[in-house]
Amino acid sequence: MIDGNLIKNDFPILSRKFHGKELVYLDSAATSQKPRSVIDSISDYYENHNANVHRGIYRLSEEGTELYEKSRKNVADFVSADAREIVYVRNTTEGLNLLAYSLGKKLSHGDTVLLTEMEHHSNMVPWQFLRDKGVRIEYVKMKEDFTLDMEDYAEKLKMRPKIVSVTQSSNVVGTINPIKEMVPMAHEVNAAFIVDGAQSVPHMPVSFSGLDCDFLVFSGHKMLGPMGIGCVVGKLEELRAMDPFLGGGDMIREVSYDRATWNDVPYKFEAGTQNVAGSIGLSAAVDYLRNLGMNNVREHELLLIRETSRRMGEIEDLEFFGPADPGIRGGVFSFNLGSVPAFKLERDLKSGNLVVSRGVHPHDVAASLDMHGIAVRSGHHCAMPLMGRMDVAATTRASYYVYNTVEDVNKLFIALNDVKREFAR
Ligand code: ALA
Repeated sequence: MIDGNLIKNDFPILSRKFHGKELVYLDSAATSQKPRSVIDSISDYYENHNANVHRGIYRLSEEGTELYEKSRKNVADFVSADAREIVYVRNTTEGLNLLAYSLGKKLSHGDTVLLTEMEHHSNMVPWQFLRDKGVRIEYVKMKEDFTLDMEDYAEKLKMRPKIVSVTQSSNVVGTINPIKEMVPMAHEVNAAFIVDGAQSVPHMPVSFSGLDCDFLVFSGHKMLGPMGIGCVVGKLEELRAMDPFLGGGDMIREVSYDRATWNDVPYKFEAGTQNVAGSIGLSAAVDYLRNLGMNNVREHELLLIRETSRRMGEIEDLEFFGPADPGIRGGVFSFNLGSVPAFKLERDLKSGNLVVSRGVHPHDVAASLDMHGIAVRSGHHCAMPLMGRMDVAATTRASYYVYNTVEDVNKLFIALNDVKREFAR
């Protein structure tokens, strides 16, 4: 069992007050807060071990290299992968851009990439770049209950996509997708399967080898680590077969004035000076999470999600976006207070009809919650097409993590009742 109140003590920022109230941080899906051990590991690196890695013969540089490679091994163990399968990148977005670029080089006119309607922009836009060379993008439908339409998935696989790329847990509606079931179906048609783990790796046990996917991407900053470090985990044979993404620095074996050959994986994908301090911070974050136990992390969030579901009925007109079953929902709670219609400017300008919202705009909800010391995200959550699919302009989203408590959920609902009253006036 996790005690969120005890855990709060490990996070210096959570003792800050805003508008005279203790901070209730409910925006961990955007970025998590950092425990003291992570912050200290980064200071320690810069105070005691900083030198560029993989290039110095002197002891200090060797120390930096050892710490960097030790972090890679630690992160690999955390997601049940081989250290050589871990490519350090800045974040999930960069990881997906790397994959779209390097795998995309092998795609030709008429090839298909299969995504889902619940992807965030980072798992859409990099693939859209490939449209210039005639690559088609298809989307698996999301059903009215916010789960993926597996019949539609099976149907779209008949197009024999070359790549399937799917979020394991939606950052907007929280749906945990059945990746274990989806991977073999994609492999059946020889598609490479990419798991976007940005919202899953921080919150539940995720095993790269267990999922048997081809690639897994995630960000350190959403899992208690620092910003600017993330991972592409890739099967060795896949990484070896791919062209590099960025050129320069450590990614070469030999360079002439005309051409270059590539280093072994994962270094082939790590061009230029790396975020060594970030990797050490991520490793400290992994230690922190491992110490809690990822099953316990998931159990703790389930407790908060169940409490949220129990309280939802208290708020009149609350529109909730996500699966009813907490068992297939990550720790995000997306909602609107009253109806917040989608922007259908074109259609409405044509018809002359005015779109009138009877709801409270999510930015107003978030600004009002801020006055209660509660930090949530409002807007399109970097998933504009999904907003359109749900027929809303935006939602308010509270997202939970290990340092949140049932009392935080309670404060959220008390504040939401206040917001409702405030806007009813
Ligand atoms: N994808 C991140 C979020 O959901 C940025 O907030």
